[in-house]
Amino acid sequence: MPREQVETPASGSVRRKKLFIKTYGCQMNVYDSARMADVLAPLGYETSEQADDADLVVLNTCHIREKAAEKVFSDLGRLKPFKTARPKDQDPMLIAVAGCVAQAEGDALVARAPFVDIVMGPQTTHRLPELIARAHRSAGAVLDTDFPTDTKFDHLPPPRADGPTAFLSVQEGCDKFCTFCVVPYTRGAEYSRSAKTIVEEARGLVSDGVREITLLGQNVNAYHGDAIGGTGTWSLGRLIRALAEIDGLDRIRYTTSHPRDMDDDLIETHATVPALMPYLHLPVQSGSDRILDAMNRGHTRDTYYRIIERLRAGRPDIALSSDFIVGFPGETDDDFADTMKLIEDITFAQAYSFKYSARPGTPAAENSDQVPDDVKAARLSALQSLLSQQQKSFNAASVGQHLPVLLTGPGRHDGQMVGRSPYLQPVHLDAPATDYGMIVMTEITAAISNSLSAVAIDSTQESETQPVATRVDAH
Ligand code: 5AD
Ligand code: SF4
Repeated sequence: MPREQVETPASGSVRRKKLFIKTYGCQMNVYDSARMADVLAPLGYETSEQADDADLVVLNTCHIREKAAEKVFSDLGRLKPFKTARPKDQDPMLIAVAGCVAQAEGDALVARAPFVDIVMGPQTTHRLPELIARAHRSAGAVLDTDFPTDTKFDHLPPPRADGPTAFLSVQEGCDKFCTFCVVPYTRGAEYSRSAKTIVEEARGLVSDGVREITLLGQNVNAYHGDAIGGTGTWSLGRLIRALAEIDGLDRIRYTTSHPRDMDDDLIETHATVPALMPYLHLPVQSGSDRILDAMNRGHTRDTYYRIIERLRAGRPDIALSSDFIVGFPGETDDDFADTMKLIEDITFAQAYSFKYSARPGTPAAENSDQVPDDVKAARLSALQSLLSQQQKSFNAASVGQHLPVLLTGPGRHDGQMVGRSPYLQPVHLDAPATDYGMIVMTEITAAISNSLSAVAIDSTQESETQPVATRVDAH
């Protein structure tokens, strides 16, 4: 349905409306939330920090672990009184649940929270205006949890830049079916956007002032989009090399990857493309071959070691991040010790770790060999303490180094700015607000918990051509 018919009043002027979006979970959701705001802006919706008087509240949800999913229902409980208190002479407040909980729960969500007006999965962002119009007309909730054959990307307007860094979605969905994970069910099969649309979108972002782009996908290195100027498809490495040619795009990152798709071409790209930042989030989940097999990860512990070895051979300073799950069904003390050993051997600059959470409909949830919660909690605490030590030593080793920092916002105090290092560490330094969006050469003076302090040592450096630091603890 054309947008004009949906919302624009007869006069042609659009009434201003308040939009409150809460985003849970991964960066794909952060991206989708931004696109929802983009698609609603022409209808007069302006984002607001407050839910109580919003015309439309969107909860963009995550189903990956039970805690994240349950949080949505407690937040819905808090929203209900705002909806009820809405003055009768105003349009009712609409509440939309989007994302993976919406996809997974569908009707069951409405049964549990009947005051919800819209339930929409992650693939139908572009239909939000139409769903709003239908919700205003309808007595009950409007559901849209299809996997449409045309993709949302064909219908969404080009994203608007909001500062010097941006996400760009290149791939969605997952066909890997790790036995613990809901993503293949909630996000659907793998889909890659064409290289042409991605390069055009990147150019647009750069001309709006973006200097760092993070390519996003659930399985971003499984990227296989239509090639530019020829037949066949491009891999992620090839795409990154094309993006690196865009004048003004100084930094490229990508997330999240799977070890199975870490091909030679991509590893080589890390060694040869200076704009590809020396940071990689490569989830391993476990260091035990037995558990990796039960998880259906499709690789061994040794494969992971070999990938890291090759990456470090080409880019010795690369900072590594990972995801870990402890207490997967059947995980023994020995399996867990293998995971700790892997962490000790590899050394991570930072990482995310979770207790296994049984998700309905996934094969591992059916396993009778569930690990008791107190065992999971003890393992998580040991693992996090090791990872936190490693993060601290990684940051401590940065002190004294000269690092280029992209300034992304105001710091803690007046006259201070915060930015990010090539290794994705937050860096605070004294700098005028007018330096926002610039890449400043700094000397790191201190490591404070998870961030760094620095002083500017040079005037703005206009491009980053060489790795400027070599990690001392890389091996
Ligand atoms: N339980 C715990 N952690 C999970 N993850 C995915 N599914 C589960 C689950 N059922 C973690 C994995 C994944 C990250 C995004 O979330 O580590 O890489
Ligand atoms: Fe989930 Fe595994 Fe796919 Fe990652 S690779 S999204 S963990 S199924």
